[in-house]
Amino acid sequence: MLDLHVHLRGTMLPLKIEKLAARNGVRVPPDTLRARGYGWSDFTCFLKAYDLLTSVIVTARDLEEVAYDYLRSSASTGATYVEFMLSPPDLLRTGVPFEDQLSAISAARDQALELHGIDCRMIATAVRHLGPAPALNAARIAVARRNEILVGFGLTGDERKFAVSEFAEAFRIARSEGLLATAHAGEHLGAETVVEAIDKLGLTRVGHGVRAAESEAVLRQLADNRIPLEVCLSSNLSLGLYKNLADHPIRRLREAGCRIVLGTDDPPFFETGIAGEYSKATEALRLHEAGRAITDDAIDAAFCDDATKARLRCVHARDKSPYACPDDPLIR
Ligand code: HPA
Ligand code: ZN
Repeated sequence: MLDLHVHLRGTMLPLKIEKLAARNGVRVPPDTLRARGYGWSDFTCFLKAYDLLTSVIVTARDLEEVAYDYLRSSASTGATYVEFMLSPPDLLRTGVPFEDQLSAISAARDQALELHGIDCRMIATAVRHLGPAPALNAARIAVARRNEILVGFGLTGDERKFAVSEFAEAFRIARSEGLLATAHAGEHLGAETVVEAIDKLGLTRVGHGVRAAESEAVLRQLADNRIPLEVCLSSNLSLGLYKNLADHPIRRLREAGCRIVLGTDDPPFFETGIAGEYSKATEALRLHEAGRAITDDAIDAAFCDDATKARLRCVHARDKSPYACPDDPLIR
């Protein structure tokens, strides 16, 4: 299983938030922590709750612990690879240079790979509702220092704020330095915005993109161009995009020829994990071996290097049959 859409700071369970809040002297309302999914009511409230709860992460050590915790717990459910989104300026504000943020996540990765056989990469992100100037800043920070763990550039936040074209320059900078691009689109706005984001930002993948299902022309374009959609079923249901799994367009998207990969988005906020997303997808697609097909597509769609993809293919091939793997101590 691969988790290709998850906000690193959005992975914390209540105990972790409490621990970091105490360590860093940050106050978080106990009621929020105790509420199911942290108790927000709509997307605007979700973003507020997210900002409040994630403010407990202050240091590079905090970030390393949060990344390691998520990798360890995902691996325990069978995950092998995660792509984390993180906005560089968030921890710059608390005095942690982006270089140190990446080193912290690299350290978590090394440990998780060695102990639990799970790998990860990073996608630096800009936050759409903060506007184009901070996005440019985020892109410049992302490309200033290269680290092998950083493979992508993304756009998160509130899709309803600012025109997507206003972020084109930030994405141009990121892509010109070899980062692959993804952006949240077609989640809160309609099908046409998916095409617009792909065209204006040069996307390799789309975050969510599920509302593409509302337009035959957009579906055809996605299928023809083989652009994967990072589908986050629990997130879509929690945020009220669809009433229930039967109403979710994942099956329609797949049958139209779109490539589907899965993500958890902000797992405790949406009361999920990657195993839950795979089982929901299998149920919704009513497809024998849906998990396998999604994993194969996810390995193709991952932003990592070919050697890592080869290792993942090898690990997953062993899921179903004896397979001649290269001599890799990480494969068990
Ligand atoms: N959606 C959009 N932006 C975000 C999210 C999300 O789920 N989490 C953190 N930033
Ligand atoms: Zn997201």
